[in-house]
Amino acid sequence: MSAPSSPEPPVVAPSGAAPGPTADAGYRDVPATEGGRAGRGWWDANAQEYLHEHGTFLGAADFCWCPEGLRERDARLLGDVAGRRVLEVGAGAAQCSRWLETQGAEVVATDVSGGMLAAGAALDRATGVRVPAVQADARRLPFADATFDVAFTSFGAIPFVPDAAAVHREVARVLRPGGTWTFSVTHPMRWAFPDDPSERGLTANRSYFDRRPYVETDAAGRVVYAEYHRTLGDHVREVVAAGLELRDVVEPEWPADNTEVWGGWGPVRGAYLPGTAIFRTRLPG
Ligand SMILES: C[S@@+](CC[C@H](N)C(=O)[O-])C[C@H]1O[C@@H](n2cnc3c(N)ncnc32)[C@H](O)[C@@H]1O
Repeated sequence: MSAPSSPEPPVVAPSGAAPGPTADAGYRDVPATEGGRAGRGWWDANAQEYLHEHGTFLGAADFCWCPEGLRERDARLLGDVAGRRVLEVGAGAAQCSRWLETQGAEVVATDVSGGMLAAGAALDRATGVRVPAVQADARRLPFADATFDVAFTSFGAIPFVPDAAAVHREVARVLRPGGTWTFSVTHPMRWAFPDDPSERGLTANRSYFDRRPYVETDAAGRVVYAEYHRTLGDHVREVVAAGLELRDVVEPEWPADNTEVWGGWGPVRGAYLPGTAIFRTRLPG
């Protein structure tokens, strides 16, 4: 990430998503409706490019929590999913859901982007593992109360909406009492550093407390991409306000054998800074 005053716009978004045809990029407040709406269009337009760049690392029927490469088969953050009703929000091409399906879970994958879900349907055909998929904004889930035992997302939805509290409320509504909600996001600390995988990315250049989103606009000034920063405390307050209990915050370390560079993530910065935070929460009951 670059400072708002930097003469050069950032070349990658904090999530590592490659920029589209943008006229301007930086950190600034935009109307919540514009920022929240941009996600769908951006992911529709960039689904193929995103999967071309990251598809091999993610796998077609594999569950990766983050660029550090933490896999659910090793981490088991969701516990035993066999026979459990599982919801993925912001599923993208549903690679995680596809893996859960192979573990005996009853999964539904949801995403706001038809382009990402279409890419997921192509992976269903290629792998022979079919995941039921529903197009839905994570802030308005089309499911009855208390439907699921487990809900999760790996970097989906939350970074791209101005009102993540609405996602937590919706997930809490569709979870059964005792159900769990686990989500990974860019580690909040990362927002204080340039989004650069080299040593340049190791020197803080903006305030951790600056909540202005990273925004890209087109030539007409329309918001085409927005990504939102929340401090650690912001995330905790939002899940607690939704009636969820916080059980753990997992901060995966960068493994010595992981050479992947994903946007600002990579082995150089990974040796010093956390890149991902995974929040494990539970609906009481
Ligand atoms: C970084 S991808 C994460 C998906 C997958 N785990 C992956 O690593 O490719 C972010 C996903 O969030 C989805 N998304 C963005 N805003 C959303 C919203 N409001 N509701 C649901 N999904 C949303 C995007 O369409 C995209 O598929």
